[in-house]
Amino acid sequence: MPPAHRISIFPGAQAVARELAARIAHSLRKKPALVLGLPTGRTPLLLYAELARLAAAGAVDFSAATTFNLDEFYGISPSHRGSYRSFMQRYLFDHVNIDGDRVQFLDGSAASAADEGCRYEKAIDEAGGIDLQILGIGSNGHIGFNEPAAALEARTHLVTLKPETRRSNAELFGGDPEAVPTQALSMGMATILDARSIVLVATGERKAACVEKLVTGSISTQLPASFLQLHGDVDIILDEAAASKLTL
Ligand code: F6R
Repeated sequence: MPPAHRISIFPGAQAVARELAARIAHSLRKKPALVLGLPTGRTPLLLYAELARLAAAGAVDFSAATTFNLDEFYGISPSHRGSYRSFMQRYLFDHVNIDGDRVQFLDGSAASAADEGCRYEKAIDEAGGIDLQILGIGSNGHIGFNEPAAALEARTHLVTLKPETRRSNAELFGGDPEAVPTQALSMGMATILDARSIVLVATGERKAACVEKLVTGSISTQLPASFLQLHGDVDIILDEAAASKLTL
């Protein structure tokens, strides 16, 4: 069976970032009021730098766009330096002409995680749904904070972070994994699959095995990214290292 997704492979991470930034700029030209779903992590750093470069050159316009980020730590305020809200401000929002009122984010300081999840789902609905969801992927196949498990949550929910996930986020908290919050809020798999189109980006050798399983394996809650096979409009953009285990 041919893979259900469209796969594009570029020589390196910089070329991947250029391609994805160009696609986002094109989508914004076609639909200025685009509703964009965004990830954090190391992978999108080059993308955000490229979008900042395009913005400085006047080649991308976020003025009518709305963004929803995938996830946020729970138990810290949005203004905390380690929050994903702060990450996005530093790497993207400070560098593009987005209207702050249209930046939507899970609030890690919300008193009730359940209420915050419902609020976020409603906000996505009221914005008309996500047009274009950009995703990274964890080396264990996680998407957002939807970690491999016996069962997955459909909608935005509270997650207890695994020790390895806290370790991989330690950089945001002065290098100390113990300082990383133990819980997070994340869009669920159904929230993600509701997006009209999805672009998953993966770079580096560390992602090669999960990319191969995502493309050729069966759908399993043990590889949350495999649920993307149920979506009809998924692009996977890879560098050669992340594509190295694919036989296309
Ligand atoms: C973060 C997110 C995560 C990351 C994944 C990969 O918002 O959605 O699923 O995409 O952990 O992270 P990096 O890019 O650091 O390898």
